Amino acid sequence: MLRIILATALLVIFATAITGRTDGEAAPVPTMSVNELMETVVTPATNTLWGIEDPQSDDEWQVFIDAADVVINAGQTIKVGGTGPDDNTWSASAEWQAFADRLIGAGFDAKTAAVNKDLEAMYTAGEVLYPPCEECHLQFHPDFQ
Ligand code: HEC
Repeated sequence: MLRIILATALLVIFATAITGRTDGEAAPVPTMSVNELMETVVTPATNTLWGIEDPQSDDEWQVFIDAADVVINAGQTIKVGGTGPDDNTWSASAEWQAFADRLIGAGFDAKTAAVNKDLEAMYTAGEVLYPPCEECHLQFHPDFQ
């Protein structure tokens, strides 16, 4: 029984990994508004990624792998939309999808860098991560500096 549960769990993780870069059926269902997601999910995770110093142990690197996963998942969620009044209008636009894809791509770059314990690549991923935030806000949330 335990083996079956484990195998199923692994399959789910694997399926998620495969569908990560596509718009497969396993799309997340948003449970909060884009704004809440930005404040409570995206901001803490990206602060972690941008605050990287010099992790040593596997556990220390794992923090950055986890933060990158959060960014990837948040990006996939905003592609679907959110519970806010304008969220689904935003997510219906091609520009929004492109910004979200860039966010997801930067999340994958950060994850690869953290898995490889490559500090230089982490800094590069951090630089790639910022422009989609700024450019998407400029278009969809222009009051935000
Ligand atoms: C695909 C577009 C998009 C991307 C990419 C994006 N954001 Fe946002 N963000 C928004 C929108 C739209 C809002 C405003 C939502 C609202 O007002 O309902 C917002 C709001 C925010 C807020 C709250 C601002 C406020 O006025 O209180 C923060 C913080 C934030 N984003 C951080 C980030 C960070 C950090 C990144 C990059 C790592 C990022 N966002 C990437 C679209 C985006």
